[in-house]
Amino acid sequence: MEDFVAAVASPGTNERLQFARQVVMGKGIDPATEAGTNQMRRYLEERTTSVGYSAVQSRKAVLDDPGADSLDRRTLFRNRGLTFNTSIFINLAIDQALDAIKAKGLVRPGKVQRIAVVGPGLELNDKQDGYDFYPPQTIQPFAIVDSLIRLGLGRPAEIQVTAFDLSPRIIQHIEAARTRARAARPYMLVLPRNVDRPWTPSLVTSWKRFGHHIGEETKSVAPPPSAGRVEVRTVLVRPSVVLSTIPRDLDIILQRLEPSSAGGQFDLILATNILIYYDLFEQSLAVANIAKMLRPGGLFLSNDPISELPTTPITSVGSTDATYMNLPGIGEAGDRIVWYQRR
Ligand SMILES: C[S@@+](CC[C@H](N)C(=O)[O-])C[C@H]1O[C@@H](n2cnc3c(N)ncnc32)[C@H](O)[C@@H]1O
Repeated sequence: MEDFVAAVASPGTNERLQFARQVVMGKGIDPATEAGTNQMRRYLEERTTSVGYSAVQSRKAVLDDPGADSLDRRTLFRNRGLTFNTSIFINLAIDQALDAIKAKGLVRPGKVQRIAVVGPGLELNDKQDGYDFYPPQTIQPFAIVDSLIRLGLGRPAEIQVTAFDLSPRIIQHIEAARTRARAARPYMLVLPRNVDRPWTPSLVTSWKRFGHHIGEETKSVAPPPSAGRVEVRTVLVRPSVVLSTIPRDLDIILQRLEPSSAGGQFDLILATNILIYYDLFEQSLAVANIAKMLRPGGLFLSNDPISELPTTPITSVGSTDATYMNLPGIGEAGDRIVWYQRR
C-alpha cells in the first residue's frame, strides 16, 4: 500500500500509474500532498474491502448456495462498478466454441465478414498473476480475427470488426493503435503463461498457436525475476488487421447502430464478461439491441447466459465448455460459451 501510494504520487512515464493518479485525482485527492496521501490510503483501504473481500464473499455465497436462484448467478456483479479488465483465457474459449460451431455447420466457411465485439476490454495487468511488465493491451478484437482465419470461417481481406465500448479509455486505446497502424506500425500483443499453473493441454495448444494468422511472432521482453516461472509469447499484429477494427462509443444497454448506418447487420457478435454486470432488465435491453444488429441466422456468443424472451428473436443453439485449468482444492476454472442464433 505504502509503495503504491508513493508511486502514484510520482507516476513518471508509467501509463498504469498515470491512470491510477487520474482516478484518485478524479475523487478530489491530490496524492502530491501529505493530506492527499492520507486520503488516498483510506480510499484504497475502503475500495480493497468493498471490491475485494466483500465481493468475493458475496460471489462465494451465491455460488455455494444450492438454492440460489439462477437469476442471482446471472446478475452476480450487478452491484459492482464496471471494470474493463480482460484476459487471454476467454478468447481461447471463443476459439474452441467457433471450432465446434464450424463442425456443426452453423456458419458457412469464408462467410463471416462483419463482427461486433461488445466491450472488448483492456488488459491493464494480467488478471491472474498480476504481470505488468508489458503495456496495457486489448485482445478480443484481434483474437477473433485470428480464430476466424484459422478456421477458414472468414477471409483476411473481408473481415471487419466493430468494437463497441462505453469506456473512452478503450475507444482511445484502439484509436491510438489505428493511428500507429496507418504509419505501418504493428500492435504488440504479449501473452504470458505462468508455467506453474496447471493449464489444460488444449489451453496450452490454443495459447501456442494464438496470433499465427494475424501477425508475426517476435522476441519477447524478458519478464523481471519477480515474475517467477513465466513463458512469454509476443505477437506483432499486422497494421492491416489493426485497421480492420473500428472502435465505436456505444452503450449496449441504451444504444445500437441502425443497420443502414453500419452498412448492414453483423454476422457474429461477441459479448463476454459484460452482461453479468447488469440486472435482468438491463440485460434484456442489451440483448434486444444485439438482436437488432444481428442478421437473421447470425450468431451471438456469450459466457453470460441470457434469459430468452419471446419478444427477442434469439435462441440458444448450443454451447461449449472450455476448461482452462484444474485448481487443486477449488476445481475446474473455465467458461461455458453459449451460442445464440438470430431467428
Ligand atoms: C469486464 S470487461 C470484459 C472484456 C472482454 N469482453 C472479456 O471478456 O475479457 C467489460 C467490458 O465491457 C465494457 N462495457 C461495460 N458495460 C458496457 C455497456 N453498457 N456498453 C458497452 N460496453 C460496456 C467495459 O468498458 C469493458 O470493456
